[in-house]
Amino acid sequence: MSNRTDEFFSRLRADQALPHGRKWAEQQGAIGAGIAESDFGTATFIKERLARAVQEDLLSYLPDNLAELASEACSELYRTRFGWTFPTSWVRATPDVLSALHIALEIFPQHTPVIIPSPWYSPFPGVCESMNREVVSVPMPNGFDLELLADSLRVPGSIVLLCNPHNPTGEVLDRETLTQLAELAERHDAYLFVDEIHAPLVYAGSTHIPFASISPEAAQRSITAISPSKGWNLPGLKAAHAIIPNDQLRGHWDRLDRHPVRSGSPLGAIGIASAYSDEGLAWLDELILRFDSNRKLLTAQLNESLPLAQYREPQATYLAWINFADYELDVSPAEFLLQRAGVATVPGGACGTQFAHHIRFNFATSPENIERAIAGAAAALTR
Ligand SMILES: Cc1ncc(COP(=O)(O)O)c(C=O)c1O
Repeated sequence: MSNRTDEFFSRLRADQALPHGRKWAEQQGAIGAGIAESDFGTATFIKERLARAVQEDLLSYLPDNLAELASEACSELYRTRFGWTFPTSWVRATPDVLSALHIALEIFPQHTPVIIPSPWYSPFPGVCESMNREVVSVPMPNGFDLELLADSLRVPGSIVLLCNPHNPTGEVLDRETLTQLAELAERHDAYLFVDEIHAPLVYAGSTHIPFASISPEAAQRSITAISPSKGWNLPGLKAAHAIIPNDQLRGHWDRLDRHPVRSGSPLGAIGIASAYSDEGLAWLDELILRFDSNRKLLTAQLNESLPLAQYREPQATYLAWINFADYELDVSPAEFLLQRAGVATVPGGACGTQFAHHIRFNFATSPENIERAIAGAAAALTR
């Protein structure tokens, strides 16, 4: 590498000792426990394939054969891991899950409200509002609640934004709940945008069941989005898929993305096909074990050092949703932890106004960082 190249890359990192990414760069000097990126990087073989793709000038627009390879990998992932079989003709490439949401919302008439259970993944309402959609927040402080959702489904044709497994709570919905949800949607003529981006990261003891696999009717009422961004830590590839079983909705999608301008890239398709391969899944299984051990460590640390924090261990993903209400802080816990303990988290208020006493803590980091963060928080709270 030339000196200029070395210099170029060294300028990309504020601190050479820290991983690339936004999580650590966001609040310099603080422990990065906010944005959903992982410090464990991605699989070496995926990096090798991406490097080779660059060497072989695979930097064109997305050719059909590569798009098909990625669609097949997506369909295989669902068949083998999640028990839902569908043809690749239902799969559409899209840069990321939020782009998929954007296109999906364009399909439905402007006046249809978007129902979002909260706490929510913080960008969801902003995407809807940027498209002049009415957002109906349905606070669910005790986990997913069908009765609360049913009360909000007043306008026929409403769109429900379902996140399963859930960010930030880590809840994984069981078959009975999904079946009742499908019946509810049928009764109220509701459609669902189902964000399954965290589905690859479910811990032993829980099972991810795709909403669309519940019944043919559920499939017809849903658009499902998935990507390797979280499981394989590849958000920068801008590579995701939407699965659209309903012919009419798919036709509409294709008319909106005719060129297609909002599809994927060759590097993205290679990332997807590699991540969802047997080798990629074996790597993922190892990673889940590391996350699981962090999850247990965090639970033990919270019990020991922050006994007033209310916390339910997540069933999936590396995000912990922690309630600090009983500490009766003068400022939000996210602000407190950043200023007094040097720990950067996502403020609960960003996930819904009712959740100002919460934080979302990302534990996809070293055990030492988890221990440092919790010890720092405990020390600040007793000062
Ligand atoms: C639930 C959920 N949806 C979507 C995203 C963003 O995904 P993408 O980068 O593919 O839009 C995230 C990222 O953290 C997420 O947690």
